[in-house]
Amino acid sequence: MKTQKTLFSTHNFTGSSHRYLERERSFYTNRVDKAWNGVHIMHGRIPDNNSIMLVSNDYLAISRHPDILRAQADAILANGNGLLMSGIFLHGDNPQAELEKRLAVFMKAEHTVMCQSGWSANVGLLQAIADDKTPVYIDLFSHMSFWDGIKHAGAKSYAFYHNNLEHLERKIKKHGPGIIAVDSVYSTNGSICPLEEITELGLKYNCVLVVDESHSLGTHGTYGEGLVASLGLENKIHFRTASLAKAFAGRAGLITCSDSFSDYFKFTSTPAIFSSTLLLHEIYALNKTLDVIIAESDRRKVLHKNAGILRDELSSLGYNVDISKAQIIPLEVGTEAQTINLRNALEKNNIFGSIFCPPATAQNRALVRLSVNSSLTEEQLNSIISACAAIRTEVDVASWSSTKRKNRC
Ligand SMILES: Cc1ncc(COP(=O)(O)O)c(C=O)c1O
Repeated sequence: MKTQKTLFSTHNFTGSSHRYLERERSFYTNRVDKAWNGVHIMHGRIPDNNSIMLVSNDYLAISRHPDILRAQADAILANGNGLLMSGIFLHGDNPQAELEKRLAVFMKAEHTVMCQSGWSANVGLLQAIADDKTPVYIDLFSHMSFWDGIKHAGAKSYAFYHNNLEHLERKIKKHGPGIIAVDSVYSTNGSICPLEEITELGLKYNCVLVVDESHSLGTHGTYGEGLVASLGLENKIHFRTASLAKAFAGRAGLITCSDSFSDYFKFTSTPAIFSSTLLLHEIYALNKTLDVIIAESDRRKVLHKNAGILRDELSSLGYNVDISKAQIIPLEVGTEAQTINLRNALEKNNIFGSIFCPPATAQNRALVRLSVNSSLTEEQLNSIISACAAIRTEVDVASWSSTKRKNRC
């Protein structure tokens, strides 16, 4: 653990007056020392080969798929890393443009633009469509990249309560038409956006709709086309974004848009212009991944079956996981200290989830996120359920913020 003492003696900053140092000191004092009792919240046990890993967003368990690995290996052997340059210099027929076309057909969109990540897709998009006169209505639980995109665009954000259409409508009536930014499946708690209702509301008030499909692309829809297309809303929602570091198990992002928007975006969004584009072997791997995602629909079925079993069993054990309707299951504890206790108790049973705490959650809404995947066996699911049954008293489920919320209802 890095205590204040080691940090300052190593860097010999004592007495320095740089403004960031106060914030750095406060991080070690208030978070590491006080809130986490001197133990770094993110540094638990190191997993072993038998650990049950519920930390990865590789929902369809394809990160070691032989066809994808072969496509990537062949591409890197043939081309190395390809040309290292900004995407602004790419034109004509090329593997990236081909993949963009395939993804557009897959998602029932006019066009898609590849980005280096889901983060740069959201930040770049907001920058391209919002400015200081644009109100952006954003769900309180929307991904941080949207919030950063709003700041980047110099636009004003108007947050509405999670999935609360009345609150959203009140905000739009007050501040006028703008952009509505939501996630289809929310990354911290697995809740699903009421997309049909939000779309109707957005169109009624002449708003531009942006939906982040990072946690539904590949996992939702008959072929994994995502929630928007599976609900038939593709012609009503202006832009969809996604990280391809989730079910696509790669490193990239995308935006669905109109044909004309794509060149405008590539010439407007600073992450698109001033940061290098994807590597050739990443494109070849993603192209093969798309084949796998379309063809191997059983993986989606098993994923949702596994998630359903876990949600139901945890719920009957007294864990409040009601908010989750997808493959992300939150064990919302509340304080960070108690969340560390839960993490330790799970890890003693060789189960690894991801800790989410501020700035990823609100204060006292820290949680351990369990990301389900399609490779979990019945035996592993049973181990998770038995462990969660056994640790209930040790982790004091009754005192959790999520439990109290449920009891108040
Ligand atoms: C909903 C959502 N959008 C965007 C991102 C950013 O994606 P990436 O990791 O590809 O930058 C994430 C990843 O945390 C996410 O969960």
